[in-house]
Amino acid sequence: MLHAAGSGALKHVQVREYVRALVRDAEPGSPAPSERELVQQFGVARMTVRQAMDALVTEGLLERIPGRGTFVARPRRGVGRLTSFTEEMHRVGLTSENQTLHARLGQAGPGVARALGITAGDAVIHWKRLRCSDGEVIAIEDAYLNEVMLPGFLQAPLPASLYDELGARGLRPTWAEDTVTADVASPDEADLLGIAGGTAVLRQTRRALAGDAVVEVSRSCYRADRYTLRVQLGVEG
Ligand code: GLP
Repeated sequence: MLHAAGSGALKHVQVREYVRALVRDAEPGSPAPSERELVQQFGVARMTVRQAMDALVTEGLLERIPGRGTFVARPRRGVGRLTSFTEEMHRVGLTSENQTLHARLGQAGPGVARALGITAGDAVIHWKRLRCSDGEVIAIEDAYLNEVMLPGFLQAPLPASLYDELGARGLRPTWAEDTVTADVASPDEADLLGIAGGTAVLRQTRRALAGDAVVEVSRSCYRADRYTLRVQLGVEG
């Protein structure tokens, strides 16, 4: 149970991540869990539950409709939502699995250091994994994380979802910049993805922030025949 995890974690973070997990696959427009029940379930003040729900409203996961209550947000036109691989797969009814190739502490090279806002040579966690769905490899993902922000990350069992784990630590990304380019798979990538060398892939780099802090820099290599990137655009005002 999420709310039992990390008893030292801030209460509002525990409530928030519990609600996030509950509404993850919920029908858009369905009612959010009731604040009164959450108060009872967690034995916390109403303010604490309010704080958790406010964060999910700000993130765009829940929406408040004046006079009616709080609901699972319907997709807003013109606004892309910052989602994890796990969420993307679940949204279209697929499973999400990980196969870790390695997870280790290293020193940040100049590029990763610049992107993470740390100094080259600083400690960085490098988590390289295959992202799979329904038993098939969809992507190779290299995530670089600032070790100082994630004490004990490598000592504990690796999470099924990086963003859930960041969320449990109060560091769920709230903003990200992605760059996507078309390319062909290298022989090594083709082996890992189970495709022929030279087949088309999509390369995505991401720099993700939680508030003002950069929490993740990643590189993903997706099978172009299995993954479609959907971007919603709008005009402000
Ligand atoms: C996407 C992003 C990655 C991020 C991952 C987290 O795939 N491109 O940068 O690390 O989501 O996914 P999860 O929370 O399922 O581990």
